[in-house]
Amino acid sequence: MTSDPAVRPPLDKSRLTGIGSDEIPDVTIEVVETAASTNALAVRRAQEGAADGHVVVAEHQTAGRGRLDRTWETPPGTALTFSMVLRPVVPTRSWPWLPLLTGYAVGKALKAQGYDAGVKWPNDVLIGDKKVAGILIERIETRDGPAAVVGVGLNVGMRTDELPVPTATSLAIEAGDAGPDRTEVLLSVLSTLREAYDAWQAGGDHTGLRLAESYADACVTVGQDVRVDLPDGSVLTGRATRVDPGGRLVVDGPDGPTPVAAGDVVHVRPLDQ
Ligand code: BTN
Repeated sequence: MTSDPAVRPPLDKSRLTGIGSDEIPDVTIEVVETAASTNALAVRRAQEGAADGHVVVAEHQTAGRGRLDRTWETPPGTALTFSMVLRPVVPTRSWPWLPLLTGYAVGKALKAQGYDAGVKWPNDVLIGDKKVAGILIERIETRDGPAAVVGVGLNVGMRTDELPVPTATSLAIEAGDAGPDRTEVLLSVLSTLREAYDAWQAGGDHTGLRLAESYADACVTVGQDVRVDLPDGSVLTGRATRVDPGGRLVVDGPDGPTPVAAGDVVHVRPLDQ
């Protein structure tokens, strides 16, 4: 595959829209050329009655949204930007696991392709210590009940000069080539995500526990010294020791073990020795 932006291949629309339930059960894919934000479009689709498993993928996003009111920008043809409508039937108290489940599934799909992927709590997907994918989950009310929109931005073919920040990476940079075919990566991520979501929904608390274990194994934050910028503007520093049954990161800070439900985590590296 070429890294010349002029000839980056488009998504294979007929393959994506034609996937059958033998390939990925309970997933339908809608491909659009341009969307301001696939999350915004998927919210609209959910409000119009889209079923659990409906995916909107945009060839290009013009006003992508990130966590904590940030933006998410990617040059055309270099990334996967997609959002899935989910209508979980598990109790509301389990919903906080959805963002972690998504990060875990994206990391698992990338690992299966040979990348050294891990999850920074709650759901940034890293290769080494650089971010390759971000996830934004929105909970909404629809006429068919509460739903979640799970948005994923995955850097596939970007060159170094196309990265938004130096702390990001792409599959192409990691592989040292033009990167894999975006259509194939999307199908692999959706299949892994659907499988993890179905297992989580099917198994009650036992599956919740299994997910917690699998997530903890994949989470590179556990065991690290961290700085957490909390939503109220305060900062917590300490050693991240575990993820609790509610999906919260437990940080051993100045006041002892402190569970964190939301925040921006920075892995603090020991000084080079
Ligand atoms: C983050 O800040 O790390 C989350 C980024 C999430 C970006 C994705 S791209 C597809 C979907 N649509 C959006 O507007 N945002 C998410």
